[in-house]
Amino acid sequence: MQMLESLEIIDQQVKKWMQEARIKIVSSLDSSLDVTTKSGPNDLVTNIDREVEEFYKTKILEFYPKSGIIGEESSHELDEPQRKKLLWVIDPIDGTMNFVKQKDHFASMIAIYQNGVGVRGYIYDLMQNKLYWGGPNIGVFCNNERLDPPCNQSLDKGLIGIGAPLLIGNYHNLQKAALESSGTRIYGCSGIQFIHVLNGQCAAYISYLRPWDYAAGKVLAETLGLVVKTIDGNPIDMLSSSDVLVATKNAQKDITRIVQSTY
Ligand code: IPD
Ligand code: CA
Ligand code: CA
Ligand code: CA
Repeated sequence: MQMLESLEIIDQQVKKWMQEARIKIVSSLDSSLDVTTKSGPNDLVTNIDREVEEFYKTKILEFYPKSGIIGEESSHELDEPQRKKLLWVIDPIDGTMNFVKQKDHFASMIAIYQNGVGVRGYIYDLMQNKLYWGGPNIGVFCNNERLDPPCNQSLDKGLIGIGAPLLIGNYHNLQKAALESSGTRIYGCSGIQFIHVLNGQCAAYISYLRPWDYAAGKVLAETLGLVVKTIDGNPIDMLSSSDVLVATKNAQKDITRIVQSTY
């Protein structure tokens, strides 16, 4: 099994790849994008999503050829042995709809898991040029600045981010959670909504997410002592799609109380 001999070297490599990807993504905003739909009209992919994913995969396999890779735009299936080794989870552009329509509020994300344990997360807020990165043995940084763990806000003292379909459908009684909070925010980019919880701008974020939407955020949030669980308080299986709640400990308790009041 390939070991992560030097995470410091990997950090330098990944940062360089992501900076290169940022230049490509941001400069593409000046040219016409090739936009197509996937599952429906609200599910877009562009040539840049695909090219950036290929770029990351090429770099990873050049330096770490035995890696398993899950990328939103290509490979999703992992067999049991692949779960155990060095696994990279890629979302080349998170918030593609924002990328196309707003030219703002989108991210690029990479996570690294070893034997099922998250060792690194990288979320790059591309228009702000802020890379949030780190993992269990080093802490979390925004570019070169270390982040302190956010204060343990309760729901009524903090903002909550909620994925639009969950809020509109009032799944799990989430409209009540929204009303108990200081206010609700919906950005259409899970990476940026994770960042808001990491830096204390929101007390919680909940959405139905796929592995590449939450893999990096989970590593960073847990490193800062935040809770990352399903809405029912169960652990998240790294390779499944599920409701994902990231929150301060107090906000998670408040949300659990509200969700359970419907059962
Ligand atoms: C989407 C965004 C959005 C979330 C969706 C994701 P994509 O990612 O993260 O916030 O609500 O579920 O699919 O497809 O733009 O990478
Ligand atoms: Ca997508
Ligand atoms: Ca995504
Ligand atoms: Ca994406």
